[in-house]
Amino acid sequence: MPRKKFYITTPIYYVNDVPHIGHAYTTIAADVLARFHRLKGEDVFFLVGTDEHGQKVESAAKAKGMAPQEYVDKVSEEFRKAWTLLNISSDVFIRTTDTKHKKVVVQLIKKCFAAGDIYKGEYEGQYCVPCESYWTPLQLVNGNCPTCNRPTQALKEESYFFRLSKYKQQLLDLYANNPGFLAPGFRSPEILSRVREELKDLSITRTSFHWGVQFPVDKKHVTYVWFDALPNYISAIGYPGKKFQKFWPADVHVVGKEINWFHSVIWPAMLMSAGLQPPKKVFAHGWLTVNGEKMSKSKGNVISPQYLVERYGVDVSRYFLLSEIPFGQDGDFSEKALVARANAELADALGNLLQRTLVLIEQKCDSKIPRPGKFSAEDEELVKASDILKVVDKHMENFEFHRAIKAIWEFVDACNKYVTLQAPWKVEEKKRVETVLYVLVESLRLLSILVYPFMPKTAESLSAQLGQKIGNHKKLVFGKTTKGAVKRGEVLFKKLEVAGKDPFSALDLRVARVLEVNDHPNADRLYVLKIDLGTEQRTLVAGLKAFVPRDQLANRLIVIVANLKPHEFRGVMSQGMLLAAEKNGKVVPLNPVGAKMGEHVLAQGVASAPVPQVSIEEFAKIVLTTATKEVMYGNKKLVTSGGAVAADVDDGAKIK
Ligand code: MSP
Repeated sequence: MPRKKFYITTPIYYVNDVPHIGHAYTTIAADVLARFHRLKGEDVFFLVGTDEHGQKVESAAKAKGMAPQEYVDKVSEEFRKAWTLLNISSDVFIRTTDTKHKKVVVQLIKKCFAAGDIYKGEYEGQYCVPCESYWTPLQLVNGNCPTCNRPTQALKEESYFFRLSKYKQQLLDLYANNPGFLAPGFRSPEILSRVREELKDLSITRTSFHWGVQFPVDKKHVTYVWFDALPNYISAIGYPGKKFQKFWPADVHVVGKEINWFHSVIWPAMLMSAGLQPPKKVFAHGWLTVNGEKMSKSKGNVISPQYLVERYGVDVSRYFLLSEIPFGQDGDFSEKALVARANAELADALGNLLQRTLVLIEQKCDSKIPRPGKFSAEDEELVKASDILKVVDKHMENFEFHRAIKAIWEFVDACNKYVTLQAPWKVEEKKRVETVLYVLVESLRLLSILVYPFMPKTAESLSAQLGQKIGNHKKLVFGKTTKGAVKRGEVLFKKLEVAGKDPFSALDLRVARVLEVNDHPNADRLYVLKIDLGTEQRTLVAGLKAFVPRDQLANRLIVIVANLKPHEFRGVMSQGMLLAAEKNGKVVPLNPVGAKMGEHVLAQGVASAPVPQVSIEEFAKIVLTTATKEVMYGNKKLVTSGGAVAADVDDGAKIK
């Protein structure tokens, strides 16, 4: 019997933005499923990648003064790195600028053309440039784009169209014959009614920009970005080759709810037109907010995968995102909630269970896994409680990660209760002690397999500390013959704290280089600076014009509050604040002597745990001053790798 195959994909993310927790959320969820299906023994193919063409990307490259290819190479690499950090086990990272991909796009368009589904027309409508979408008057919200709320512009251009309307009945049949196709189920009424009522032909080419796949039917035109992006799901598996024959149709495309229409309607219709099978399922999950707010660059509350991993660790982040929010629903990311869950469910429940068991085996059995004696009723009860694969499997099939985790943690709780009640440290009879400890080791071995998809590193450490190799679902049966010696290693989870206790820890002070100094267009006393943080460039507004000549700022290193809530100064958004010292009418920017661009500025002896954002009021409460031309936080110096941060002013200056 050949192994069952499982083909799972994430959206390919646009490279006009850097990776953030929203992208991470989808990708982690898909990774958990991929890993779960590998444990089931299936032949899994897991695809991720980047969407690199289109007007938005062309403009983003231009804004950075880079050639499009150079720009997309750089950002695509950031996604790749983020997925490595998050331990994403993808098989291929597809890029729409790959030559092989572009060939497949052309092939697919030719097939649709040959089927009579592509014709030339004229497109007229309200167009949103950032979203690359035309909207009908009915869809506009107060005349603005319904997605990003920015103004749209009336546009008319020659365009090729895809006869989407022709596929109305076939699409409705697809949904009717495959009840699991539109998932989660509560999203299907909206799609069904839109397909029934508003299925119009789709404009699929543009002439207004160049960065894209040339339209094979007419070289003046560039392929619309979605007609270029969606085929990644077949180009990545080598359409029309062997791998494609094996893995297509995809078992599931995991996407965010805002791109459900493209995946559930347009993509299947394209495939039908080309004579190919539609995917088996599109799962459209909900959206994440951060502390109750929509994430946005201008709010400055965007959380990067790197921040998550550095601050909380990869497994804690993965676990939290999937245990907290029912997949499919919208949900909130809050660090407070993360810390609470991580401490209770991970450190206290699972971490301690392992720790207690290992210490007892070291003390009572010289680190060897003992042979069990006859099982008591309580032992048998725990064996029964371990039999949860079926339940977990059902939840995973329904994409209900939070339920799967809940079922696993009910077993963790049962184990903890068991140790407390059996209290092996008090028991006299040796065989009984050995039996209890065996039952615990075996339970933990099962847990290592159960938690593996969610927390692969933790699972590996857990099984290594038990002296075992990590198993698959075939090994997920309570046995009586597990052998070996335990090897206590690092604790699985350290206790976390919500940010630092010292208010200074919340700050993200960093060294930046000034690239440009310009006058503020609407304010006499302000400069507008362009600065480089190494990882990104930003705009800052600084009230230094009366104090510091332009040439003394250009190209020098400064210290900025990088996580200050962005603020608009007379029409210019300042993304952070330059720090300067003021005393007796003299104002000088802080001087991070000998520092490297981008590095963090710390207060000696204060742990740094920057939060995503601080307000100006919070910052104002943190008093910084100067003593002997050095910058101080209380009696602690501000330092970089180059030593103390300097400010050439008298003692007792105010830093702001
Ligand atoms: N390039 C298209 C997808 C093409 S797929 C053939 C695109 N890219 S995107 O960069 O905008 O990514 C959108 C996806 O990122 C969402 O569908 C979702 O998977 C994820 N998310 C982005 N922000 C998100 C949240 N705030 N919350 C949850 N997921 C979000 O659309």
